[in-house]
Amino acid sequence: MKTDTFRGRDFITLLDWTKEEIETILDVALDLKRRYAMGEPHDHILRGKILYMIFYNQSLRTRSSFASGIAQLGGQAIELAPGQIYTPALPGKEVAYSTERVSDVARVLSRMGNAIAIRCYGNPVDWVYGAAQEMIRNFAYWADIPVLNMEDDKCHPFQALADILTIYEKFGTFKGVRFTMSWAYSPSVHKPRAVPQSAIVAATMMGMDVTLAHPPEMELDPEVIKACEEFARRNGSSFRIVHDFEEAAKGAHVVYPKAWAPVQMFKPPVGVGDPKLAQEVFDRYKDWKATPEYMALADPEAIYMHCLPADRGWEVEDSVIDNTNPKSGWRSVVFDEAENRLHVQKAVMALVMR
Ligand code: CP
Repeated sequence: MKTDTFRGRDFITLLDWTKEEIETILDVALDLKRRYAMGEPHDHILRGKILYMIFYNQSLRTRSSFASGIAQLGGQAIELAPGQIYTPALPGKEVAYSTERVSDVARVLSRMGNAIAIRCYGNPVDWVYGAAQEMIRNFAYWADIPVLNMEDDKCHPFQALADILTIYEKFGTFKGVRFTMSWAYSPSVHKPRAVPQSAIVAATMMGMDVTLAHPPEMELDPEVIKACEEFARRNGSSFRIVHDFEEAAKGAHVVYPKAWAPVQMFKPPVGVGDPKLAQEVFDRYKDWKATPEYMALADPEAIYMHCLPADRGWEVEDSVIDNTNPKSGWRSVVFDEAENRLHVQKAVMALVMR
């Protein structure tokens, strides 16, 4: 594959990339992971390059892995916190001397640095589904440097790369791997759909047999479902949706139970913009929790995955998430998964920021 096709590109959604390109990213990530483990210097790759990071939301993993990753490649991260900078905003959302139009921010940063990474979902865009991705795409339209999506209201592509790299490391293949992405209960309804949507796109794109499980009210974006069906058709693999937590775990090699917002949370036309109703709906499904009994339904060698942070005691019991012993049967791989954020992000930065 011609790697020069990567240089200068944005990384906003997996759907903008081909399966072959994603495989190249995983190859580069594994090479960088090996070099890091062997202590082989690789800080020449992006020496002197600057990554701007703009977080509209909280983050531990994304913030630390991007900052560590660019430093390990020889560059530097600069965080531009909304509120400390004039908060980037689209036309119609501007407030005098408080915000700055995205087109201006993007063009200024393009004169000084080498990539702009953005996280935005939920409250900063008033739960208007798609508004955050629209803003990130507007950054990309105006910027002359790559724009990286650190999670928006539709997708979390770097999380999905880390997820599939972890699965590949555990099973050595994607073919025949039974992957279950499931909703699980959390007392907080303020969770975007980004992680499950990117996870099922990545899993079907790579050819796994995918089950999506959720209560009826927790449906995902129909466009994402359509893309997954098409990937499964092209790969000769399977994709199904079920509304039964335990049924979905049966025989799975990978289970990935986590909460995401019900459709009621989003403003019309997608939902009704009613957080109180969303909470009532959520509270109907408190028994959707990863327990040892749930794990026992899966394949005896199954792995438990979660993007973290996990809502312990609600989404998952401690005895599941903390069972990281590789010699036990089913086990949790959440810290391998978190570490792989570092390696996949280094790979994408190395490919697009050269
Ligand atoms: N998984 C993930 O994106 O974690 P953070 O919210 O801590 O960045």
